[in-house]
Amino acid sequence: MAQFSVSGSVGLITLQNAPVNALSAWVRQGIVDMMERALREPEVKSVVICGQKGTFCGGADIKEFGTNMTGPPLIPMIHAIEAAAKPVVAAIEGVALGGGLELALGCHYRIAHSKAKLGLPEVTLGLLPAAGGSQRLPRLIGVPAALDLITTGRHVTAAEALLLGIVDQVTDHNTVDAAVKFASSVAGQSLDARRISTFPCPRPADVDALLEGAMWKVRRIARGAIAPVACVQAVRAAATLPYAQGMEREKELMATLFTSGQARALQYCFFAQRAVGRWSMPSGDRWDTSEPRPVHKAAVIGLGTMGSGISVALVQAGLSVVAVETHEKQLMEAKQAITGMLERGAKRRGVKPAFDKIRYSHNIQPLADVDLVIEAVFEDMALKEKVFQQLSAVCKPGTYLCTNTSGLDIDHLAAQTRNPELVVGMHFFAPAHVMELLEVVYGPRSSPQAVATAMQLGKKMGKVSVAVGNCRGFVGNRMLKPYLEQASFLLEEGATPELVDGVLEEFGFAMGVFRMSDLSGLDVGWRVRQADGLVVPHATAGRQARVRRGCRYSPLGDLLCEQGRFGQKTGRGWYRYDKPGSHLAKPDPWLHSFLEEYRARHGLVVRRIDHQEVLERCLYALINEGFRILEDGIAAGPEDIDVIYVSGYSWPRHRGGPMFYASIVGLTKVLERLEHYHRAHPDVPNLQPCSLLRKLVASGSPPVNKWREVMKTLHSQL
Ligand code: NAI
Repeated sequence: MAQFSVSGSVGLITLQNAPVNALSAWVRQGIVDMMERALREPEVKSVVICGQKGTFCGGADIKEFGTNMTGPPLIPMIHAIEAAAKPVVAAIEGVALGGGLELALGCHYRIAHSKAKLGLPEVTLGLLPAAGGSQRLPRLIGVPAALDLITTGRHVTAAEALLLGIVDQVTDHNTVDAAVKFASSVAGQSLDARRISTFPCPRPADVDALLEGAMWKVRRIARGAIAPVACVQAVRAAATLPYAQGMEREKELMATLFTSGQARALQYCFFAQRAVGRWSMPSGDRWDTSEPRPVHKAAVIGLGTMGSGISVALVQAGLSVVAVETHEKQLMEAKQAITGMLERGAKRRGVKPAFDKIRYSHNIQPLADVDLVIEAVFEDMALKEKVFQQLSAVCKPGTYLCTNTSGLDIDHLAAQTRNPELVVGMHFFAPAHVMELLEVVYGPRSSPQAVATAMQLGKKMGKVSVAVGNCRGFVGNRMLKPYLEQASFLLEEGATPELVDGVLEEFGFAMGVFRMSDLSGLDVGWRVRQADGLVVPHATAGRQARVRRGCRYSPLGDLLCEQGRFGQKTGRGWYRYDKPGSHLAKPDPWLHSFLEEYRARHGLVVRRIDHQEVLERCLYALINEGFRILEDGIAAGPEDIDVIYVSGYSWPRHRGGPMFYASIVGLTKVLERLEHYHRAHPDVPNLQPCSLLRKLVASGSPPVNKWREVMKTLHSQL
């Protein structure tokens, strides 16, 4: 609702809808009623709109999307405010986002607190600012700045908003008091020059080139998302059409977006990300009701690629860090790298780098008083066992011992310590200070409090933390394995890396599977397969070259590694690069003839592989493993898997994550296609549909948000 009060000659309308004063139906009704009252009452000469509890307005009520909206619509409400004969001032504290900023743009003046954040993030939900935002903002701040804010959805600080001209004043004091004072000072003044919808849109001479450039840029970055494209079209309308026609265009574009699957997918991601925090452990103990313990001082062991990034993320989250590295040369290099990352991060955030928060050490003796340790030494079980034994002896009782292993058994590491309940996995992604995903891996003996503490620490570091069970590769890497394998089988059958990557990039991945492998290094997986006994010297393998443990195996990646082709770092991998470390992947004739020779040697008949097969085999094999993960209880629900894939594996957000995608494609179709490929290639692993997929299809293919219920019923029937 909205509350009305009068301060002197100023009518004060306060939005009241915790937590962010979203513009739900009853809030809109309140604003309409209170505005009418303010305009009616003769002693009220001007109006201030503000929000309760230090927050102006977080925008539309997303829960109303897709429902039959009741209450007054937003656009006429904002028009009425703009058309008012008495000055209306928006007092912006906390946030003015989406519909909240559009409401403020309908006011005649805007005063913001210095800590306020403003923005039009609709594009991130697959929409555009369709309550006049796309038409008013370019008129207020010009086409280039409006394009930037509307197509990226980025938030700006009050200082930047002032510079851009979005707000008229910034204050460090009480914003509502400042707005009331300002409102009484402008009472009775003409409002002709304050109604943004009447402004001509400032048009730079090269506006066409500018808009074309913007369109080209969003198409390149958006990877198939349609909302950023519609945002550019809406701004074009603002720049080229009268306001009323621009509003019509905004409405048309919004209607297209609103009914698109992409908006649904993006909104699903938004809610899924919120839901992953609410997770319960299999024992029934809810970790989120178990209080996390505060972590003030942490330690990182091993300052390679991961440990250095993790140290930076911890320092930036305000913790004191002891960083341990045994190799002298590596310690020097890591110090330099960490200092550089802290400097750059501080510059970006406009603060001083917190060099004093980090202490370096050659050994683990200074770890006696830390609250939590993150181990990031080489992926070698014997080494990690030793490190955990030492940590258990040196650290104070109650110190949480976490490992950044990519897939080793957490429970085995826990068994090396005096208190296995204090051991959890914290699986970061490279570069650890940048990537937002964190898998928090609980072993059978991890305590709910240990999981809660790691989840809380992840949140403090600004990560999207997802709690997952302990198994080989956890969730993300376990699903990646069949995806990578199918891609390799496709090469054996006649595809090229360029074909496979092209299809996956067109689907929306930032990088296809082969380009991605070249970037992360082919040797990483090779070493793991070597440790597993899967790598057999090809020359001696004979007929067993393409079989491991009774299943088809594609040794192509191993063969490249044997040739020293580790990817970008060596300048050769699935592609060639002008020099080691260069990022530009070029098709490699050597690789093509290597594939031809390989196929000839093994008598493989080359066939034409179409785009549909590439997409279906790679994605459905990954999705099938996702169902197995749900079946095994490694992920709590499909949302957990989807959040992991969208935030850590560049799965296109506008497709909502692999499990959501499967439900949109139709579970029956996924099942049928897997069966088809399994029949065609019975010896290729991971194409046989798993039983949960079959059971969900037999239960009528419920939508993704109903899977948990069905899974519960199926479980109780066992
Ligand atoms: P890395 O090889 O870059 O660094 C490991 C560091 O640990 C080296 O600097 C080494 O000198 C140091 N070290 C070895 N024994 C030590 C000891 N006893 N005490 C202190 N330092 C010691 O390895 P990277 O890539 O940083 O990986 C570390 C861990 O993180 C591994 O378990 C890996 O599987 C995991 N991981 C790696 C990812 C990646 O993309 N590189 C992603 C996620 C997890």
